[in-house]
Amino acid sequence: MTNILGGPGLIHGCDYNPEQWEDVPGIWDEDLRLMRLAGINGVALGIFAWSRLESADGVYDLDWMATILDRLHQTGVSVWLATPSGAKPNWLALAQPEVRRCRSDGQREAQQNRHNHCLTSPIYRRKVAAINGRLAQRFGRHPAVTLWHVSNEYSGCCHCPLCYAAFRAWLERKYGSVAAMNRAWWSRFWSHDYERFDQVTCIDQSVSGLHVDWKRFVCDQTADFMAAEVAALRPHSDRPVTTNLMGFHEELDPARMAAVCDVIGWDAYPDWHGRTRCSNNADTLRPAFGLADDALVASETAFLHDLNRGLKDGQPWLLMESSPSSINWRQVSRLKEPGVNRLAGLQALAHGADAVAYFQWRKSRGAAEAFHGAVVDHVGHEHTRVFREIAGLSQDLALLAPLAGTRVLNQAALLYDWEVRWHQDLWKHSRNADKDYPGICLQHYLPLWRRSIGCDVIGARIPFGQRRLLIAPVLYMLRPGLAERLAAFVAAGGILLCTAPCGVVDQDDLAFTGGQPGPLRALLGVWAEETDCCDDGAITLEPTAGDPLRLGTQAGGGICELLHAEDCEVLATYAGTWYAGRPALTRRKHGAGWAYYLGTRGAPALIDTLIERLAEQAGLQPVLAGLPAPVTAHRRADAVFLLNWGRNAQRVRLPEPMRDLLHPGEATTELELPAWGASVLGSGRD
Ligand code: GAL
Repeated sequence: MTNILGGPGLIHGCDYNPEQWEDVPGIWDEDLRLMRLAGINGVALGIFAWSRLESADGVYDLDWMATILDRLHQTGVSVWLATPSGAKPNWLALAQPEVRRCRSDGQREAQQNRHNHCLTSPIYRRKVAAINGRLAQRFGRHPAVTLWHVSNEYSGCCHCPLCYAAFRAWLERKYGSVAAMNRAWWSRFWSHDYERFDQVTCIDQSVSGLHVDWKRFVCDQTADFMAAEVAALRPHSDRPVTTNLMGFHEELDPARMAAVCDVIGWDAYPDWHGRTRCSNNADTLRPAFGLADDALVASETAFLHDLNRGLKDGQPWLLMESSPSSINWRQVSRLKEPGVNRLAGLQALAHGADAVAYFQWRKSRGAAEAFHGAVVDHVGHEHTRVFREIAGLSQDLALLAPLAGTRVLNQAALLYDWEVRWHQDLWKHSRNADKDYPGICLQHYLPLWRRSIGCDVIGARIPFGQRRLLIAPVLYMLRPGLAERLAAFVAAGGILLCTAPCGVVDQDDLAFTGGQPGPLRALLGVWAEETDCCDDGAITLEPTAGDPLRLGTQAGGGICELLHAEDCEVLATYAGTWYAGRPALTRRKHGAGWAYYLGTRGAPALIDTLIERLAEQAGLQPVLAGLPAPVTAHRRADAVFLLNWGRNAQRVRLPEPMRDLLHPGEATTELELPAWGASVLGSGRD
């Protein structure tokens, strides 16, 4: 019943910007009336309110915030209080140029937009600490405040002299000497040896080790900036902190931010009725899996929910933003069809969220986001479809309050190593197109998702725990110690799947010597002598005699490693090419478990069948079997969520009588899910 923030039940919330409406008499009263009606019980307050909180250097006015905080509290609405660093006020940005970012050509940006402050500037850090301290001193123990919403969507980097100086100091701490840095970066190549740290900028695209270090530095600097924000709050407030993360956003490793957060929160803007972000893959996935586009969008959203939950190994998390209807920053955005907002909200809950929140409460009248979806439209009243649907979902959340605080942990996991993508994208090789690490990982997640088998998505530092199946696509870069951990997982009885390209470079972006897949060669029992590249799906794979996994003839391609089966069983070989007969799929028994290796990018049908077989071997069961596509089932604590990702109604037969938790009544063994319908079921026994 107690949610991750220590309050009762589940949170249904939104970003609230009352400071934009102060000159409209009575509008705050109306907001509170409408919040009560909509069942909104949480808001994020003050995210972009810096200029209203501090209208000139040192001129603070927090009284309006005190008033609205008290009123929200009286209305039963809890508050995620924001620190306002995401958008710097004009008076600061114009008076202190160093707070504005420099682009990679060294040019300082004009004051504009948001999320573009220098991460290093002592002046910005001082001003942020001052306003954060003021907010915390005044409101850090306010009974309405349950969470600090620190900044907003940290992102991007700055190339100013201060940031470069900090980068060089970071390099010096990391390497100790320029010689060690040169060795790690292989900078003798093209004669780019550095003589001193102060010669380093991050312009040189030819030194790939430098680039991954720059990305790591930017992550560390962002996490350090956030930690400094939190440090300014702490003397006055012990409320938990978070910041809103952003899906596959490549540049910022969310694990670094997670270390500073007490709770994980992320902003989800799926392109409902549009396409998935992994659209290259979607073109092959759609026909291969017989899934409609929205089911693919749903699977990508599920993946990202699981990825965010994985940042704190199953701890409940917060859906901090989503749109109640359409968004305004894609070329074309469809409205969410009736039912989809509820479906998406229940999906987040099924994946372990304790909060479903929206950007935004009320549509602003002007500026950049006036026509973005909101709970309250410009028309200003509650008689809208969107408002009614939000109010409906509030009723569902109230009934599902017992789920608050419960963890979701699965027996299968997919290893998603953020840094692998950085390294792989820098890989200059015979196949430079469509590296698409997120899309490939998603493709390996889909077989479990569509069979309603729960799968966690975990970063490389999360313990594998008691899981039975671990899917580790494309471990192109292998961190120190990971091979040993994978070997221990398999030895203890786990089933591991690795896929090509694997074990190519180390964390410095240096190729492993001693043969691919580097430190995994012994565990997998293969050596990849060469790598051919071709179109996806261009190569046939034939099973070996007996076909123990019942794979049949399949397709692979993209990348085809010419493997030597050094110490493993060969399950499939390449066919119809000059390297026909060479191993393509292998497995090796190690201790009580099995390590599988696929030396090519499997076509969707191969991945689907292979992962189905490995799940069988691991003894994994679907939450509910035999569901009609596109219905999926998900378990959270004792509840089973049934989600229909399609426009047609679907009949679902249950293996035993279950109760509909959202429509209390008799237990049933059959139910009908309408278009975009969702049910949450509990045990039929009393
Ligand atoms: C988010 C951002 C919000 C709002 C929203 C619109 O990325 O955090 O402030 O701009 O997008 O979709």
